Amino acid sequence: MVAGAISGRYTGLLKIRINEQHKHKGMTNFLIFGPPGSGKGTQSVKLASEFNLIHLSTGDMLREEVAAQTELGRKVEVIMKRGELVPDEVVIQMIAERIDSNPRANGFIFDGFPRTVDQARALDKTLAEKNTSICKMLMLEVEHEELVRRLLLRAEVSDRPDDKDVNIIENRIKVYKEKTEPVIAYYRSDGKYLPVNGMGDIEKIFSRLSETLAACI
Ligand code: AP5
Ligand code: MG
Repeated sequence: MVAGAISGRYTGLLKIRINEQHKHKGMTNFLIFGPPGSGKGTQSVKLASEFNLIHLSTGDMLREEVAAQTELGRKVEVIMKRGELVPDEVVIQMIAERIDSNPRANGFIFDGFPRTVDQARALDKTLAEKNTSICKMLMLEVEHEELVRRLLLRAEVSDRPDDKDVNIIENRIKVYKEKTEPVIAYYRSDGKYLPVNGMGDIEKIFSRLSETLAACI
């Protein structure tokens, strides 16, 4: 209770600091990075609300397309069901459109994007065209068994087909290791990579991320 109140005041102060910075320096953009089930979505929603940033999740955008059964949705549905990645150009275009359509944003939290080094390069280019960049990559570190446990638990209540089968979950984690982990080296070489312990209580992880965010502002 007390810790929560302190954390709330703390992050409230941070919000003021971020807003002050925006008046002078433009947007503040972060990546929330990590394997499937590491808590990217959960934490992004909280951070976006706390720091007045726009949360962009390519997974959510793609699921909206699938739910609406658009032409794109029908194309990507089968790929997502297998736990494979959709083509880079699809998500790069989606993200560029969202950035374009929010010119007055304080900044963005990118969740589940970039997932390949080519996506990272494209994001950097798009942001550079707006005279902005990624501030930090916040990497949620969670043990393998815990990832699987969380996703199987969610499968009991959600309608995400890629949570329903442990083999698909394992494939998502494998695809992450093969295709997405190389993105870490890309940002690490820029000094933007910050690992954060993603195990344990959601509020405690949120506090850790908020502190890390403060350190880079
Ligand atoms: P996407 O939607 O990005 O899914 P993902 O990366 O597989 O990860 P999740 O969304 O399942 O997990 P998360 O890390 O957000 O954790 P969450 O907070 O939900 O991508 C889905 C698919 O879309 C991909 O496989 C691909 O096909 C396609 N795609 C998307 N982006 C793409 C891209 N850029 N390029 C190509 N293809 C792309 O938490 C998980 C569960 O755990 C929840 O139930 C939550 O309540 C719970 N939880 C969270 N934190 C905790 C905690 N601390 N303790 C206990 N439980 C917790
Ligand atoms: Mg997610």
